[in-house]
Amino acid sequence: MRYANGVRACVVVAMIGCSGWVAAPRTGAADDKGGKGPDKAAVDRAREQVKMLDDLYKTAVVGINDTYVEKQADVPAAVVAAQVFDAMKKKGWHEARLIDVSGKPKSKTSVADTDFEKKAAKEIKGGKAYYEEVGEKNGKPVFRAATVVPAVNNICAKCHNVKQGDLLGAIVYELPIK
Ligand code: HEC
Repeated sequence: MRYANGVRACVVVAMIGCSGWVAAPRTGAADDKGGKGPDKAAVDRAREQVKMLDDLYKTAVVGINDTYVEKQADVPAAVVAAQVFDAMKKKGWHEARLIDVSGKPKSKTSVADTDFEKKAAKEIKGGKAYYEEVGEKNGKPVFRAATVVPAVNNICAKCHNVKQGDLLGAIVYELPIK
């Protein structure tokens, strides 16, 4: 997906360009507060961290599902995932959330909510497996990413009323860039 990579690269380059080369005035949304933008190495570190977290969360969630969940009445792994995401947020590490991309969410709270989530849901629905941006929150740079979540096996598919392999949702990440 050349288009995807192009957009991604543009966002990153634009951010670095803004902060590194243009002294004043700052007009980019991410620089409105006059803060220094993130450097490329810091953005790369955040991206690496998302890759690690994504492997960790997906392995854990699918593992819990395969081991403990047998029928619709059982507690789905998504609920455990939400608890872990919540704990990580409270401890100040990062934010993560499972959102719906199928258009048939099991929970209304899974519907894409923020601008980034809406954009990411659209891109992933359009066929991308991954989408990212560099943004800002409370005057500090953040790295946002979304990774695809398909119905990886039959039990996901059965509970969610889709076919195995169909697109279900995405995990959306927001990490501080430091
Ligand atoms: C026991 C039934 C069940 C199984 C099995 C199950 N899910 Fe879910 N899933 C749910 C429920 C219920 C929710 C809503 C949880 C909540 O309250 O937030 C949900 C939420 C989700 C969401 C968030 C979007 C939405 O629909 O609300 C995704 C994405 C998701 N599940 C993916 C998966 C994947 C991938 C698997 C297999 C590894 C899986 N689920 C297995 C029942 C299930």
